[in-house]
Amino acid sequence: MTISIFINSSNLITSACNRIQLKYININTMKITVVGAGAVGATCADNIARKELAEELVLLDIKEGFAEGKAMDMMQTMALLGFDTQIKGVTNDYSQTAGSQVAVITSGLPRKPGMTREELIGINAGIVKSVAENILKYSPEAIIVVISNPMDTMTYLALKSLGLPKNQIIGMGGILDSARFKYYLSKALNCNANDLQGFVIGGHGDTTMIPLTRFATYQSLPVTELLDEVTLSKVAADTMVGGATLTGLLGTSAWYAPGAAGAALVEAIVRDEKKIFTCCVALDGEYGQSDICLGVPVIVGKNGWEKIVDFPLNEAEQAAFNKSAEAVRNMNNVLTEMKLI
Ligand SMILES: NC(=O)c1ccc[n+]([C@@H]2O[C@H](COP(=O)([O-])OP(=O)(O)OC[C@H]3O[C@@H](n4cnc5c(N)ncnc54)[C@H](O)[C@@H]3O)[C@@H](O)[C@H]2O)c1
Repeated sequence: MTISIFINSSNLITSACNRIQLKYININTMKITVVGAGAVGATCADNIARKELAEELVLLDIKEGFAEGKAMDMMQTMALLGFDTQIKGVTNDYSQTAGSQVAVITSGLPRKPGMTREELIGINAGIVKSVAENILKYSPEAIIVVISNPMDTMTYLALKSLGLPKNQIIGMGGILDSARFKYYLSKALNCNANDLQGFVIGGHGDTTMIPLTRFATYQSLPVTELLDEVTLSKVAADTMVGGATLTGLLGTSAWYAPGAAGAALVEAIVRDEKKIFTCCVALDGEYGQSDICLGVPVIVGKNGWEKIVDFPLNEAEQAAFNKSAEAVRNMNNVLTEMKLI
């Protein structure tokens, strides 16, 4: 009984300390902006608010009243969920985003029937570039998180056109793909996805991503020792078409996991977590590639991505990475051809 009381009080104290820690971060005047109040942007904002990562969160969209409506709806969950982040919805008014430490860009169009890849890149590049420029006008120090697709190319556009230090520009895709990899691994192993480690590197596309099966572990046991080759190949194949599978089921692209992945990245930045995530970052010789933004494991903290982690790839993995880079480079060339960079 005595022990039980002791444990309970200790838990209470721990939980109080955690709460104080959260409040400390809150009053640290953290301000975050999410541009695009659509499916992914709103879900990302919702997760950021629930995690209390900012004192103020601005949700901005070009569609009149849309972000205001989404922000109001989220604020009405405050008394139910207990968070205290203030969410402000605005229509295209960037002055309201002033002083943001982190800005997440989710604005953009999905590819429509009959639209070429070049047309989509042209439209989304125009949106991403003007959004990023507007953010920097009011928040010159902001760390820019790019989610809009084609994400690897949009991240490269941000790198080439904004003149920011490379560590301040992070594309989010690999965190989502790695979470999907762990989901499919957990199904194959019949285990908890939280007990798994695994990374997906390369481009954020069905044919360009590379699930690194050889490095994946279940509580430090290599999954290659737990699953046969056929099962592992299926896990990798399912991961690669993970987004397309959901689009087939939903009739549009997914938002819960993409929004949560965006918020996890923001959390690592604002809490200076030094976590390793696969992010799309500027490569300067690392993994044998230069003048490109591609998904590699990086340490994430308050300065954005702080260091690229070198995984010793074998010949086949390096060949797949080079092929992925070639495909992404071809897309990036559209930006040059269209004189967007
Ligand atoms: N990187 C990833 O892992 C990942 C995952 C899922 C989706 N995505 C991409 O994220 C983007 C958003 O997806 P979604 O499902 O939320 O789409 P959505 O259509 O639901 O939302 C997009 C929002 O952007 C807004 N918008 C368009 N132009 C704007 C501008 N100039 N300024 C401000 N807002 C503007 C629209 O009004 C809309 O509300 C797409 O490009 C999608 O392909 C990326």
